[in-house]
Amino acid sequence: MSETKSTGYVISDNNLGLDLMRATEAAALAAARWRGRGKKEEGDGAAVDAMRAVLAGVRMDGTIVIGEGEKDEAPMLHNGEKVGTGDGQKVDIAVDPVDGTRLLALGMRNSIAVMAAAESGSMYNPTMCFYMDKLAVGPEAADVIDIEAPIADTIKKVAKAKGKDVGDIVVAMLNRERHEQLAKDIRDAGARTSMYTDGDVAASVSAASDSVSSVDILAGIGGSPEGVVSACAMKAMGGRIMARLHPTSDEERQRTIDAGFDVDKVLDTDALVASDNTLFVATGISDGDLVDGVHYLEHGGARTHSVVMRSSSGTIRYIEAFHRLEKLNRHAAGQQLPGV
Ligand code: FBP
Repeated sequence: MSETKSTGYVISDNNLGLDLMRATEAAALAAARWRGRGKKEEGDGAAVDAMRAVLAGVRMDGTIVIGEGEKDEAPMLHNGEKVGTGDGQKVDIAVDPVDGTRLLALGMRNSIAVMAAAESGSMYNPTMCFYMDKLAVGPEAADVIDIEAPIADTIKKVAKAKGKDVGDIVVAMLNRERHEQLAKDIRDAGARTSMYTDGDVAASVSAASDSVSSVDILAGIGGSPEGVVSACAMKAMGGRIMARLHPTSDEERQRTIDAGFDVDKVLDTDALVASDNTLFVATGISDGDLVDGVHYLEHGGARTHSVVMRSSSGTIRYIEAFHRLEKLNRHAAGQQLPGV
């Protein structure tokens, strides 16, 4: 019998992220058929069905902490739903089968299928309050930001930490009326803005990565679920996201307080996800800053681009996959979809 020599390299655990990527790939493949068709719900529904079908076969004991809404509103991937085979790692799961449903419907850039996972019990559950104020940066500037400081101070500090001129600092935000003053303050400080129509998960990941785009900071108000998903990516990238809940009415504020949340509390990355074992997975639906979208191939089939991040190893993998035409129907989870 031949002896196998040890190389000293031990694979101590499986990268669950690679299996979760199959679910974001399936969601992206299903959603991409709806690109530019003007139908948000149908595109989102196709992505949810496809993601759900694949997740059922992933070896994990998963609980959806951030899903597509409460059970009665959305029967698919609802908050509290158990996903996976029930054995394997016990994990909290956040899903956003389409981040950028409007981008998808209009056929615009930057829509992604995204998921995050972390050790069971570690994900902040923001379902009571739809919006958060956020500030996110990459590793070089992680120690210098403070969400309570004026944006002009933050810009100066980030510029110094990154060895850049203030005039070269780019702050990304969602293009919303609510950000008019923030945008003015940024420009008055001598920096620039980069407006995103939708999709602040991709924007925050871009801010944390020098290789993805020229964005240095993500600032402003966006969805709370997207804040927690972004926190899972920050853990893997060595970046930081700070946030604070942002109720938009007295009623929402009271409901949030009654549910035991402190609406004035600053939530640092660890408060959003209290685990150093996080996964972040995204597959492009349309071409974007973070990853390319689904491309249909001349001979049939499709090509997808995904990113899989794992905080415990600090790995960030970009994965290009080719999907044969005859297998694509499996991803479509038995739905009747418009033709490629
Ligand atoms: P969905 O595609 O899931 O609806 O989210 C798109 C999005 O742009 C998020 O990325 C962002 O956090 C949120 O909507 C902002 O909400 P609003 O459009 O109400 O400002």
